[in-house]
Amino acid sequence: MSLSPSNQRAHWGSRIGFILAATGSAVGLGNLWKFPYITWHNNGGAFVLVYLIAVLIIGWPIMMAEILIGRHTQASAVPAFEKLGGKWWSLVGWLGVATGWVILGYYAVIAGWTISSFISCIQWSFTEYQEPAPGAFGEFLSNGPLQLLLSTLFLGATMLIVWRGINKGIERATKVLMPILLAIIGYLVISVLFLPSIGRTFEFLFTPNFAAFPASGVLEAVGHAFFTLSLGMGAMLTYGSYMSRKESIAKSAAMVVLLDSVIALCACIIMFTIIFAAPDVEKTVSGSTIGMLFITVPRLLYTEIPLGSFIAPIFYILVAFAALSSTISLLEVLVALLIDKLKLARAKATLIAGGAVFLISFCCAFSLGGLSFLSDFTFFGEGKEGILSTLDHLAANWMLPVGGLFITLFVGWVLDRKISDAEVGMRNADGSPTIMYNIFRFCLRFTAPVAILAVIIAVIWGKDFS
Ligand code: PHE
Repeated sequence: MSLSPSNQRAHWGSRIGFILAATGSAVGLGNLWKFPYITWHNNGGAFVLVYLIAVLIIGWPIMMAEILIGRHTQASAVPAFEKLGGKWWSLVGWLGVATGWVILGYYAVIAGWTISSFISCIQWSFTEYQEPAPGAFGEFLSNGPLQLLLSTLFLGATMLIVWRGINKGIERATKVLMPILLAIIGYLVISVLFLPSIGRTFEFLFTPNFAAFPASGVLEAVGHAFFTLSLGMGAMLTYGSYMSRKESIAKSAAMVVLLDSVIALCACIIMFTIIFAAPDVEKTVSGSTIGMLFITVPRLLYTEIPLGSFIAPIFYILVAFAALSSTISLLEVLVALLIDKLKLARAKATLIAGGAVFLISFCCAFSLGGLSFLSDFTFFGEGKEGILSTLDHLAANWMLPVGGLFITLFVGWVLDRKISDAEVGMRNADGSPTIMYNIFRFCLRFTAPVAILAVIIAVIWGKDFS
């Protein structure tokens, strides 16, 4: 393990260690499951455009801000804010830890679905595809014990990797997982490019039609920018604390943002082209957009796509890997806190953090129909019934943007500018800051906080909590 001479903190062992791990954190169910279905809900083009703008003017600067706090303090979220801003600012770190705990709790349940889809696909590929009975997915969801089993398996795998530490666990795992992931996505994109429905997909994704864009989509786009880039809760901050001073924060952040957005768009291209290829598209998708990745896609892969029975199991391995590299980063936020604050050994910290997450996963596993008081729970109104959807909405659309707002305000207005200048670099030969650095500071101080605040105020004002 490479250790920093000053404080014995582990560091990424290779130049691209950070980029791979951070991209692994960013790319996950957010890209492959959530982005396609919310893009579909929000009618494509205009939503994609708003989302990409949010990624550029909010996501990229906040990612740099998080990394620079982590790298400068060499600490995880809570002690980092404590060191730089005192007791009150450390609340931002605590909010992040709470958010990570909530997200991992429900994320593990959805990630568990990939295991079951993979098993089904293996069976179908070796025999032949059998159309699941109508309502079979609902039955699967409402099988609480099965949901719990699958999510626990997923959580167990995550714990195992995190327990092995930064270099032997996280870095080694993402070094293998990320290239495989990129290769599989590349293969799938190439195979759908030949389908006649590709034209319709591009039209749907890249022709903005603001008349068909629901206003609540703006909150969803901004919230999703945070979720998909793993921002607003200290995951990038924690990974940044393992980054060597030789790396460029701006370039690494830009690379992660770019890869994440490209992969999200690739996921849409793959899924929508398969869906548009079906003769009765609307019928196929209606009913369960949440299940799009798990019902529609396997059906179409087996019935419409050449070599589909070969691609299908690989596809679910891909989704599972992507989810795993994200759950690792979520758990690491909790584990790093226990190690940094309570000086626990990594093994003990992993066990305690995993146990805490299990409590939330338990509730979520039974909230899909397993136990009616959990599945009927409503707070955000129609379409967000059940603990799982409620927590997803709460964490992604509220906790992350609020956490992100404080992070940008902190680095933009409170933190000594010299620290940000020194960490980010970006100087011309004469020592003056580059144009890009000035743009970054401007986004961080004005554009990002104003945009996040505007969205939050608009939603509260309109009382549209959906
Ligand atoms: N970015 C991950 C995804 O898109 C989810 C995530 C959110 C991971 C927040 C870490 C922190 O799936």
